[in-house]
Amino acid sequence: MTILLTGATGYLGSALAEVLIADQPGAQVVSLTRRSHDYLAGSLEEVLSPEMNREVGEKTVLKVQPEVIIHCAAVASSAECERNQDEAYRVNTEFSWGLAEGAHSVGARMIHVSTDLVFEGATCPEGGFGESDLPDPVSIYAKSKLAAEEKVVETCSNAAICRICLLYGARRGTKVGPLGWMIHNFKSQRPVPLYFDEWRTPAFVDEVASALKALSLRQETGIFHLGGPERVSRVEFGRLVADRYGFSAGLIKEKSRHESESAGFRAEDVSLNSTLLCESVLQIFLSSPERGLSLFEIS
Ligand SMILES: NC(=O)c1ccc[n+]([C@@H]2O[C@H](COP(=O)([O-])OP(=O)(O)OC[C@H]3O[C@@H](n4cnc5c(N)ncnc54)[C@H](OP(=O)(O)O)[C@@H]3O)[C@@H](O)[C@H]2O)c1
Repeated sequence: MTILLTGATGYLGSALAEVLIADQPGAQVVSLTRRSHDYLAGSLEEVLSPEMNREVGEKTVLKVQPEVIIHCAAVASSAECERNQDEAYRVNTEFSWGLAEGAHSVGARMIHVSTDLVFEGATCPEGGFGESDLPDPVSIYAKSKLAAEEKVVETCSNAAICRICLLYGARRGTKVGPLGWMIHNFKSQRPVPLYFDEWRTPAFVDEVASALKALSLRQETGIFHLGGPERVSRVEFGRLVADRYGFSAGLIKEKSRHESESAGFRAEDVSLNSTLLCESVLQIFLSSPERGLSLFEIS
């Protein structure tokens, strides 16, 4: 089987690359990336493109002829998307659309990774947002991701959209991520400012990667939510991190998201209800943050 993976240098993509290579001997994993990287060198075949756009997406799929596409690449920083809106739509929406066009032409299954931030989050239902709740994105990042979802569903008949949540786990790829930033501050005895009024359902990146792989091997289509089983605030998550690694929780400085420079597009509560995917489709359990944090060491 040939699997085309985008974003393999990133936080999620690097975990996925590892899962795909370890679990599927004989599978050929082709990474579509802007730059070659040492991580997993020799295990992935690379297709390099300095820019990701609709044409590159479609042409690459036609060239590689994959059975499965797992699409993790994105301009995944909300701040970066606000700064560079054209790039956000080109990469997040148009490139995804091109991949879906290619997938449709070669009959590939496509897993499109999306985000909990498609919800504005001011009125989160008890138990979290379900797949039938209506998205209402506020940031350019979230708008470009939702536009991608719509293009992928319209274009590729064998596509599953997987909206994921805040991820944590060991650092592999090029991105430090929120956990890496927190740990760096804790280790350097610097304040760790965290929002007490932002809630997420964080998930261990390795478990999310395994779930995405499992979904890629099935035939269910449409939208699925994939978040951890517990809703926690950023402050609560920070305390769990401090506790797990023996850092001083006194370094955590509680603040409101309204104090943030990015207050205009910070979502309050985008907790996901993942019952459909975890219980009905895949029959898996994602770890609580406390358990997930116990499953890996930090460097
Ligand atoms: N991390 C989270 O907590 C989280 C939460 C919800 C949803 N998501 C979604 O999960 C997916 C993976 O996120 P991540 O955290 O792994 O992101 P990441 O670490 O920032 O990695 C994203 C990847 O996308 C590619 N990319 C970034 N900017 C690009 C640009 N301007 N042009 C072309 N390619 C670009 C990069 O690959 P190359 O440099 O190799 O080309 C990079 O490896 C994304 O779709 C994101 O929206 C993530």
